Amino acid sequence: MHSTRARVPAAPAPALGVATERIEGRDKVTGTARYAGEHARTPPDCAYAWPVPATVARGRVTAVDTAGALALPGTLAVLTPGTAPRLGESDDPTLAVLQDDAVPHRGWYVALAVAETLEDARAAAQAVRVTYATEPHDVTLTEDHPDAYRPEQAGGRPALRERGDAGGAFTAAPVRVDVTYRVPPLHNHPMEPHAAFARWDGEGDGAHLTVYDSSQGADPVRTALAALFRLPEDRITVVSEHVGGGFGSKGTPRPHVVLAAMAARHTGRPVKLALPRGHLAAVVGHRAPTIQRVRLGAEHDGTLTSLSHEVTTHTSRVKEFVEQAGLPARVMYASPHSLTDHHVVPLDVPTPSWMRAPGEAPGMYALESAMDELAGALGMDPIELRVRNEPATEPDSGLPFSSRGLLACLREGAHRFGWADRDPRPAARREGRWLTGTGVAAATYPVLVSPSTAAATARHDGGYDITVNATDIGTGARTVLAQIAADALGVAVGSVSIGIGSTRLPRAPLAGGSSGTASWGWAVHRACTRLAERLARHTGPLPAEGVTAVADTAEEAGRTPPFARHAFGAHFAEVQVDTGTGEVRVRRLLGVYAAGRILNPRTARSQFIGGMVMGLGMALTEHSTADPAFGGFAERDLASYHVPSNADVPDVDAHWIDEDDPHLNPMGSKGIGEIGIVGTPAAIGNAVHHATGVRFRELPLTPDRVL
Ligand code: MOS
Repeated sequence: MHSTRARVPAAPAPALGVATERIEGRDKVTGTARYAGEHARTPPDCAYAWPVPATVARGRVTAVDTAGALALPGTLAVLTPGTAPRLGESDDPTLAVLQDDAVPHRGWYVALAVAETLEDARAAAQAVRVTYATEPHDVTLTEDHPDAYRPEQAGGRPALRERGDAGGAFTAAPVRVDVTYRVPPLHNHPMEPHAAFARWDGEGDGAHLTVYDSSQGADPVRTALAALFRLPEDRITVVSEHVGGGFGSKGTPRPHVVLAAMAARHTGRPVKLALPRGHLAAVVGHRAPTIQRVRLGAEHDGTLTSLSHEVTTHTSRVKEFVEQAGLPARVMYASPHSLTDHHVVPLDVPTPSWMRAPGEAPGMYALESAMDELAGALGMDPIELRVRNEPATEPDSGLPFSSRGLLACLREGAHRFGWADRDPRPAARREGRWLTGTGVAAATYPVLVSPSTAAATARHDGGYDITVNATDIGTGARTVLAQIAADALGVAVGSVSIGIGSTRLPRAPLAGGSSGTASWGWAVHRACTRLAERLARHTGPLPAEGVTAVADTAEEAGRTPPFARHAFGAHFAEVQVDTGTGEVRVRRLLGVYAAGRILNPRTARSQFIGGMVMGLGMALTEHSTADPAFGGFAERDLASYHVPSNADVPDVDAHWIDEDDPHLNPMGSKGIGEIGIVGTPAAIGNAVHHATGVRFRELPLTPDRVL
C-alpha cells in the first residue's frame, strides 16, 4: 500500500476550501517520492529493455537481423514480430506491439532489445538491422483530402449536429464572418517520460504479473494487460504511485508497458523500460491537427442567427481518434441555426489521442477567435457580444444549465484586468518598436464523472486510512482527497492517511477528463460518511482492526442528470509585439473561472495557471511537424518542441467565482484540470490582433509568421 500520512498541521474541520499544502510535497522535493522507472526496490537481477522504432513511414518489415545485437556483451534477447509472444485480443490496436510485420507509421515499434544494463539495451537496439518493403506514404492533412470521412462520433458524441438551416441563415445574415483557423499537431511531453517496470512471479496458474507504470490510471492498465496476457485481473498488480505529468498521454495504456511485461515474461527477469523522449512523439499520442471553418451570421445588434463550426482532422491507419473540436460550439452561444461537424482523414501518422482539453482547446481557439472577428465586424465590444448571445438553456440539448457562470467570469475578469480602459482601435498603442494589445476569450469544459469505489477505516490509534486507486499526476489528488475525507468525517486533515496509486486498492477510474476529484472524491465522501455514521453508533474502544466502511458510486455517478453541466471561464491577455522581429511577448494573463466549489485554493490555482501556461505555449511556441519526406514528427526533443519557460510567463493570475451548484456531487465541485488551457490561445491571438491590426489564423504565432 502506498500510504502518505498528511504532514500538515491539524486543521479544524471543515477541511474543504482550505489552501492545504500538498501532502507529498516534501517527498517530491527530497526525491523520496519514487516514479515508475525508479522505484526503490529495483531487484539485482533487473534487466533493461529498449525498443526499436521503424525508420520508414509505411510498409512492411521483411527481415530483422538480430545477430549483431545478440553478439554484444549483455544482450539477453531481441524480440521481433516473428519471435515476440503472441498477445490476446485488445480493443486498442496501438497495444498490439510486435504482433505482425506491418509498419503503419514512422516510429512504430518493430523490435525490442533486452539486456543486462540500460546502456547494453540501448546499444543492442541500435545494432538491430531491420529491412523494410516500403510503400508511398501520406502524412499531410488538407481540408479537401480525398480520404476524409465523417466519423460516427467525435469525443463520444455524434460527429454531426444541425439545428435549423445554418447555411441559409448564414447567407441571409446582415453581418457575416467566414474564417478558417488552423492548429498544428501538438505533443503532451510530460516531464516524466513513459516508463514501466514489470516482474512475473510464479508459474502457470499461479503466475502473477506486477507492473509499476507511469500512467494516469492503474485500473485501466490492469484491464488492458489482463486481455493482452490472458490473465484474470486478480493475477495482475499495477502500481502508479507518483506520476510526473501526463496531460492525457498517460490516460490510456501505452505500448511501453506491454513491451516491459513481454520482455519480463520472455527472459524470466524483472525488466525496466523507460522511453527516451525521442520516442514519445510517435508512441504515446498527440493532439491531432485541426482545420476549422467557423461561420457566424449576426444581426447588426450582435444577435447570432447562424453558427457553424466544421472541423477536419487526422487520425492514424491503426485506430480512429477524432479531435472533437466542434463540441464546445454546442454549448457556448444561443443561435437559432447551428451546424457542428467533424471529418477525419486517416494518414500514415502516429495515432493521436487526448491532450489537455481534447476538443475544447483547439475548438475554442477557433470559435473564440471568430467571435472576436465578429465583434470587430460589428464594431462591438467582444465582451458585450458574448453577453448578447448568452443562451437560456444549453443550445444543443435544450437542457437547463446546472449553473453557468460565464458572464460572471467575464465581468469579474474585465474588472480585475482593467478592460474598461481599453481603446478598442487596433494597432493604436505603440511605444518604440513595441505594439501593445489586449484580448479576451471565453472558456468551457464539461463536468464529467465516473463511478468509483473507496474504503475508509477508523484505526484503533485514532487515525483514519482512506484508500482509493486514484492517481496523482501532479494535481495534488492525495491532498484534496484527504480534505474531502476529513470534511466528511469531521476530523483534522492531519489525522487522515491516503493510499492511492495501486490496483490493490479499491477500483477507481483514471485521472482524466478533469473528473478525478469528482469521481474518487464522491466515493471517498460516501465511505467516510458511512464510517462516521457507524462510529457515531459505536460505543467503547475500537477493535484492533479498526472499523471500515466501503462505498461504490456506480449508481449515483452513473446517472445522467437532467442538466447541462459545464465549467466556464474567461481569459484575458495583454501582449506586446516587436515590430522589428515579430516576437510576441505575453505581459499579463488572467483567468477567472466558475467551476463549482473550489476545494483547495492552493492546488486549484496551480491547475488553473498550469493550464494557462500550456495555452500560452499552444499560442506562441508549440508545434509539431508531420514530416512529408520521412513521415513521423520532426520535433522529438524539448530543444525543438518549445514549451514555455519561466521567462515566457511574467504575470499569470487565476481567480474564481464561487458557485453553489447542487447538481454535481456531494462536494459541489466541477473539474479544473483542463479549463485553464481552453480560452488562453484565443485570448492571446485576439490580443495580437488588437496590437497589430493583423489577424493570424494559424498557430503558433511565431516570429516568422507575425513579422
Ligand atoms: Mo486529460 S487530456 O483528460 O488527461
